[in-house]
Amino acid sequence: MIKHFIDLDNFTKTELGNILSFATKIKKNQKKYSNILNNKSLGLLFEKESTRTRVSFNIGMQKLGGNVIELDSKKIGFGKRESTSDVLQALSQYIDVLMIRNNSHEELVQCAAYNKISIINGLSNYSHPCQVLSDIFTITEKLGKIENKQVTWLGDFNNVLTSLIHAAEIFNFKLNILIPKKIMKMAKKKLNNKKLVNSNFCDDFDRALKNSDCIMTDTWISMGEKKSQSKLKMLKRFQVNDIIMKKAKKQAIFMHCLPAHRNEEVTDSVIDSNKSLVWEQAKNRIYVQQSILYYLLKDVKK
Ligand code: CP
Ligand code: NVA
Repeated sequence: MIKHFIDLDNFTKTELGNILSFATKIKKNQKKYSNILNNKSLGLLFEKESTRTRVSFNIGMQKLGGNVIELDSKKIGFGKRESTSDVLQALSQYIDVLMIRNNSHEELVQCAAYNKISIINGLSNYSHPCQVLSDIFTITEKLGKIENKQVTWLGDFNNVLTSLIHAAEIFNFKLNILIPKKIMKMAKKKLNNKKLVNSNFCDDFDRALKNSDCIMTDTWISMGEKKSQSKLKMLKRFQVNDIIMKKAKKQAIFMHCLPAHRNEEVTDSVIDSNKSLVWEQAKNRIYVQQSILYYLLKDVKK
């Protein structure tokens, strides 16, 4: 059976928990697992820019004994030269798993639906599941069990937040979402007004931030989106700065998937402070994605 990794809400808490537990084992003893994906090959297909996802998948796969090939979507004529189904069938003759970063979540889902080769969502316009699963790993590493923790998101409604909402519903942590009212309306529509149990849209900063264990943000303009001065102006109030951090728990941590736009969505004083976990977040992408690769190609059951 071909397995895919498209969205967190395609999985049960147990399945994701198993992936996280195996990631912990790999992180503790990378050497022990250095051959587990011998003779397996990963393709990386980027239609958008990437530093962390590109390098962490590439190095992570090699450290498990596997091979990596980076595909240039223009050079292979992805979606243009032949049907996508035929490209995937051709690729499946050479590689075992394909990570795709693109601008159309529908196309990504369709790639998986062809069921020719394992597909990983390396970020789409809709979601970024590898990032958020890895962030759950980082929070757990730092603060212990994620259940009943309180995470507060400030800023835009985007792909990272969508996966974070999925995670809050699955892992049972409280997610407060502080975003401008105008964006909130659009966000609820995008979520099809789906009833959320653990995620709350709020507009009261003090209430949302009080008792927060983790403050999270991301860029205000995502890749593929037009820069809008009015949007940037509307988001100014949602910048994570020292005043915001002081409203959260004393030990609260700060997270950002990066790349950051310093002194826009977050001040230098916060991102460079000892509360900031941004570099741990970037590093942990390796272990969680190694575990995802192993889950797709073998299994991670204990
Ligand atoms: N956080 C993240 O996915 O970074 P890149 O866009 O650099 O891959
Ligand atoms: N929301 C950002 C995440 C980058 C990793 C974007 O899509 O550009």
